[in-house]
Amino acid sequence: MKRSAFTLVLSSSVLVALMAAPAVAQPAAPPTFTKDVAPILNRACVSCHRPGGIAPMALVSFQDARPWARAIKQQVGARSMPPWGADPQHGRFKNDRSLSDAEIRLITAWADQGAPKGNDADLPATPLFAENWTHREPDVVIEMPVDFEVPAEGQVDVTDFYVKAPFTEDVFVKALEIRPGAAQSVHHAGVYIVDKIPEGASLVNGRILNAEGKPMSRRDIARANGLQSGRGENDKLLSFVPGRGYEEYQLGAGQRIKAGSYINFYMHYQPTGVAVKDRTRVGLYLAKRGEQVTHQIYHDLDAAGPTTYIVDGKELGKLDNDDQLPPIPPFADDWTVVSVHAITEPVTLHGLTPHLHLRGKSMKYTLILPDGREEILLYVPKYDFNWQVYYELESPRRIPGGSKVIVTTLFDNSLKNRYNPAPQNTVYWSDQSWDEMYAPQVRITLDQRDLRRNGDATTNGQRQRQQ
Ligand code: HEC
Repeated sequence: MKRSAFTLVLSSSVLVALMAAPAVAQPAAPPTFTKDVAPILNRACVSCHRPGGIAPMALVSFQDARPWARAIKQQVGARSMPPWGADPQHGRFKNDRSLSDAEIRLITAWADQGAPKGNDADLPATPLFAENWTHREPDVVIEMPVDFEVPAEGQVDVTDFYVKAPFTEDVFVKALEIRPGAAQSVHHAGVYIVDKIPEGASLVNGRILNAEGKPMSRRDIARANGLQSGRGENDKLLSFVPGRGYEEYQLGAGQRIKAGSYINFYMHYQPTGVAVKDRTRVGLYLAKRGEQVTHQIYHDLDAAGPTTYIVDGKELGKLDNDDQLPPIPPFADDWTVVSVHAITEPVTLHGLTPHLHLRGKSMKYTLILPDGREEILLYVPKYDFNWQVYYELESPRRIPGGSKVIVTTLFDNSLKNRYNPAPQNTVYWSDQSWDEMYAPQVRITLDQRDLRRNGDATTNGQRQRQQ
């Protein structure tokens, strides 16, 4: 008995020894930069960490990355890099750059084992970036008509610049990117379309001046052009904040820029201690020959139906503008704003992008279908003002008329919020970052508003008529 038990023990330990033998004789090779790490950095990091990118250092070559190995391990381990805020339990996103647990383990093992280079032959091709643009060279680049001198210090009012778009026919855009000239000094920027210059106004050095010679804002112009809400039906092309500034649209979605319109650069500068010149540009990727843009992208859910608000538990009904929300009291944490967006006609959802300021804490978009089923479209549990992300759905999602989207947003005006500049203040609503902003943005198309139905052109470079 004893003997056979001994045999059994012996044979199983021999078995274990045999299985482990190769590892003992030849320890598992550590991950290398060329084979294991570079593919991850290429996918998730180098769009920002490259020469001319927005990050402070490049992570393209081994020489670039080697000195940063420990910092990289620390940043990816804490999930601070790459910037990405979506809770992975909800929604799938085409531009998801977050790392899997396995990728984080791999980078950690590489850094812990001396961050070796590996074989040159294993190195994948470096993604090609057109100079400054994160994707290929755009088909059309439109820039601010003048340089703006950002002073070294002080506060610069939000400034509007205008330039006539170079189009004599309507054009259809499938993707676009904003590139700031002086990236460090551009706090944020928006690019809008303005149909026409109001009567009596004139375009001088990139400013639209009213009859008295005073510069006009986009809202002044819209009002002077007779638009009640101070906003055109589709006036926004795109906005830029660090980490966001490129978008592309799937299916027949895109943006139309009408012939003869003007492009408005809405610029918010932030002095950085050094005087610099900025000339921000927008790059357009046009629909290819024969490709139709059948549906216009809208940035707000209110294009599909009315919105009502519930703030700190009180129903407010409909507001003309977000800046009519009641202010956030001093030291309030978990101050809750809920917006209920009725979807009165069928829409297709392409993406979501929460925009709040420094008190923003979290944002959740919940879809309620007409039959009552609920689904969380996006949950950003720790909103970060420094990293505003556009979450592009993996594939566009149809939402039937009669649905609702409920957006639940928490604000933290307490001392617990380390970004809070002044918890003792009552916080009002405006574009300035010391005020708060509530913008549960989306990218939607309205299914029934097919551009082809009006007999409008829907492709670039050729007029198309339908019955
Ligand atoms: C959207 C742009 C962007 C992406 C993508 C990105 N980073 Fe960064 N990264 C930045 C910027 C900007 C900074 C500097 C400001 C900051 O720390 O927030 C930074 C800072 C860092 C730092 C800290 C540098 C220091 O001074 O300590 C490390 C390390 C880092 N990134 C690694 C990575 C890695 C690794 C990835 C990919 C897995 C990545 N980053 C993806 C923009 C980006």
